[in-house]
Amino acid sequence: MACFMLVSATVSAGISASRKAELHDLLLEDCGACHGITLKGSLGPSLRPTALAGKSKAFIVSTILHGRKNTPMPAWLGVLSRDDASWIADQLLNGTTGAPD
Ligand code: HEC
Repeated sequence: MACFMLVSATVSAGISASRKAELHDLLLEDCGACHGITLKGSLGPSLRPTALAGKSKAFIVSTILHGRKNTPMPAWLGVLSRDDASWIADQLLNGTTGAPD
């Protein structure tokens, strides 16, 4: 019972450690394909904290889930849940993506 409660608390707080590892790879490989492996920008703009300063987390989450019409930025809804996108937005805003400098 205690164990079950611990697990559900972890789930309600966000996403599992293994999902975080998957998202981390996706961020550097799939997002990095357009935003650069360093996330400093390539086809897509820089996703470093300085570049995103002043943009709200809700705006970033919405961009990730729905993409940007008439630009190459794809919608990730279906691949990523809202929790996934929220976790990714936190990593981008906090500069904890682990992207090389
Ligand atoms: C096929 C190329 C491509 C891929 C893959 C891609 N993006 Fe983008 N992304 C873009 C482009 C181009 C823009 C700029 C859109 C515009 O002009 O408004 C963008 C914009 C963004 C923005 C808005 C930045 C800002 O300053 O407003 C965020 C956040 C973002 N992408 C996150 C991601 C994340 C996270 C992933 C991976 C899950 C991802 N992107 C994958 C091309 C891509």
